[in-house]
Amino acid sequence: MEQARDPRREGASWWKSGVIYQVYPRSFQDTDGDGVGDLKGVTRRLDYLQGLGVDAVWLSPFYPSPMADFGYDVADYVDVDPLFGTLADFDALVAAAHERDMRVIIDLVPNHTSDVHPWFAEARASRHNPKRDWYIWRDPGPDGGPPNNWLSEFGGSAWALDEATGQYYYHAFLDRQPDLNWRNPEVAAAIHDVMRFWLARGVDGFRVDVIWHLMKDPHFRDNPPNPDYRAGTNPYFRLLPLHTTDLDEVQDVVAGLRRVVDEFPDRLLIGEIYLPIERLVAYYGGALDGAHLPFNFALLETPWQARAIEHLITRYEAALPKGGWPNWVLGNHDRPRIHKRVGGDQARVAAMLLLTLRGTPTLYYGDEIGMAQVEIPPERVQDPYEKNVPGIGMGRDGVRTPMQWDGSRFAGFSDAEPWLPLAPDFTEVNVAAEMGDPDSMLTLHRRLISLRRHHPALSEGDYAPVAADGDLLMFRRDGAGERILVALNLGGDPLLAAMPGARGRVLLSTFCDREGETVTGDVGLRAHEGLVVRLD
Ligand code: GLC
Repeated sequence: MEQARDPRREGASWWKSGVIYQVYPRSFQDTDGDGVGDLKGVTRRLDYLQGLGVDAVWLSPFYPSPMADFGYDVADYVDVDPLFGTLADFDALVAAAHERDMRVIIDLVPNHTSDVHPWFAEARASRHNPKRDWYIWRDPGPDGGPPNNWLSEFGGSAWALDEATGQYYYHAFLDRQPDLNWRNPEVAAAIHDVMRFWLARGVDGFRVDVIWHLMKDPHFRDNPPNPDYRAGTNPYFRLLPLHTTDLDEVQDVVAGLRRVVDEFPDRLLIGEIYLPIERLVAYYGGALDGAHLPFNFALLETPWQARAIEHLITRYEAALPKGGWPNWVLGNHDRPRIHKRVGGDQARVAAMLLLTLRGTPTLYYGDEIGMAQVEIPPERVQDPYEKNVPGIGMGRDGVRTPMQWDGSRFAGFSDAEPWLPLAPDFTEVNVAAEMGDPDSMLTLHRRLISLRRHHPALSEGDYAPVAADGDLLMFRRDGAGERILVALNLGGDPLLAAMPGARGRVLLSTFCDREGETVTGDVGLRAHEGLVVRLD
């Protein structure tokens, strides 16, 4: 091993050099035998996460909720749902994470509340209620139907009629998730106070749910048809969401969130944004006063081909504002597992890519052991998205199945039947089986994360493209006096990667078996192999 240096201890922003790990609390670890994970479960597994080497844990929502959208329908922003535990459990989790030098990031869901949130109960009580304007209300259209053509991401009109008061309210997602009106300063003030509540409790940052949705057209103009819409795909995209998302004014709202985060030292603001790169980067803010990390989901959609990926990296690097720090995501609770997208053999190459690119990586729970996307039988479907828009692959249950800790009956996740089925291969693909195995997927992840930590060139160095040819993708990371070459074979045939004039030593192969090998001139890559090479 080269000289060890831990950038975390040398004043660099922790979130630049660190690795973020997403926990979906319902599915991580159950401790009270109800088949649903809880906060005590996350605390119990912190040693595992520390051993994996991640720097921060992002928790999907654990707030009181009727669970219409599994917690993304918040009924109380400043408490914990009994299903997940108590505020005391949350405090214990934060304290235990901090003791281990790990940060805790929580999900903030400011775009909408649950329909049972007291704010909405007040708002719908009468047209004159002082909270009425905290949500978005419109009279029916001329035909008595919805006020305009806006669509819900989860299917159908985005307007629901409140019979008692005779007006429609807007919901970008479920009708049980009414959108807050961010044009009302009282709403902003209330959410800012929610943020202060958690920041004062010690959280290290927020991942802000659907941040690009926060402002909608004040004139409520119809969205135009999408000329590229293909039948059989997500019906939401029949229209271009021009007047419902990514309005210029949203940047002021984001800057407002950032100001609250900056009231506390060293905290992080992440935004969930599904937009093309050129629009995405606006969310850093004109003066870098927006999100520290607008989530970059482009790897989830780019074809798994060397040229396409290199083109993406180059485009992203070029689009970043000066001083804007990149980030990469390979999986989350809304998108199919990487294992399914690229195939089991390529999942290792994908892991090497994620953990060697320039920018903060976010790793989705279970991807580090190679968890598969699980087929969910119709009678066990839970996801409201799949229920509303069935049969076109929108369902998200398959990526939210219980974490596979061991080969016991319920995979060490719970003593009871879990809320979603386990992957059929859990007896082989699990933490206990992979922990001591020198070439398991888990070992690969531990070693990649450790390499990143010990080689600042990987965590903070510059990116330079080297080759993108057929199945070969090569790039360099240079910094702190080191040059590190990453060579990835995205295909199923061996290949020879030319590194004219270069000599180096292998730091890691995706198969964990070539460490220390000297390479000169050309380097051979086996099928589906990736290498990290330290150049002389
Ligand atoms: C975000 C969440 C997703 C949720 C939606 C509505 O996209 O990641 O899980 O359903 O927002 O809150």
